[in-house]
Amino acid sequence: MRIAVFGTGEVGSAVAGKLKSLGHDVVFGSRHPRPDQDGIPVLSHSEAAEHGEWLVNALHGDDAMAILPPLPLAGKLLIDIGNFQSVITGPLTHTLGESLQNALPDTRVVKTLNFVSAQLMGAPERLSAPHTMFIAANDAGARAAVIELLQDFGWRDILNLGDLTACRAMESLASMWIRLYETLGHVYFNIAIVRDPV
Ligand SMILES: NC(=O)c1ccc[n+]([C@@H]2O[C@H](COP(=O)([O-])OP(=O)(O)OC[C@H]3O[C@@H](n4cnc5c(N)ncnc54)[C@H](OP(=O)(O)O)[C@@H]3O)[C@@H](O)[C@H]2O)c1
Repeated sequence: MRIAVFGTGEVGSAVAGKLKSLGHDVVFGSRHPRPDQDGIPVLSHSEAAEHGEWLVNALHGDDAMAILPPLPLAGKLLIDIGNFQSVITGPLTHTLGESLQNALPDTRVVKTLNFVSAQLMGAPERLSAPHTMFIAANDAGARAAVIELLQDFGWRDILNLGDLTACRAMESLASMWIRLYETLGHVYFNIAIVRDPV
């Protein structure tokens, strides 16, 4: 699969590296094109958009809203890992996942991975007990395709939360992540949803 990862920071590097290790044809989209970063070509945003059948948003929310909607992304699938803000100081009034979908009506936006540390995204086995990944998308086919990719990443407990209104819950977890990080002092944690049959 040809995949373009937007953002060369912590999340972009982790996810692009994992995708490359799985054999995908990966490029970065960046403000600063260069021959490569860790062996992955770094293209301009528009060149990366052209390359990718699938796209990954690894940008901060406001940057993603500035960069992605003007690009020709119709017909493509966009995995959104971003958040508008990590420290939520008031009610969450809008979400990045829903905002991207509204701005890109012909692109299938899939929200996932936004509430775990970059170090765990492609290496969930780093944690010693089972833990949960959420996924949401308006398009059921896109959701199913990304569930398969998450399984390739090593995720075993993937909980389908339905359409993108679930972003309101999923993006709220970024704030929880920050508090847990401050409390625990490291990034190796995640939540597990324990559900018994009733
Ligand atoms: N870090 C985590 O563990 C983690 C976990 C879950 C979710 N997230 C979410 O993932 C997203 C990326 O986080 P990150 O930690 O990877 O951030 P980061 O390390 O700061 O990387 C963000 C990338 O965005 C690009 N960028 C920076 N400023 C920009 C600007 N003004 N305009 C356009 N592009 C700009 C840069 O790439 P170029 O210089 O190549 O353009 C930069 O490398 C955020 O939305 C965050 O909430 C992060």
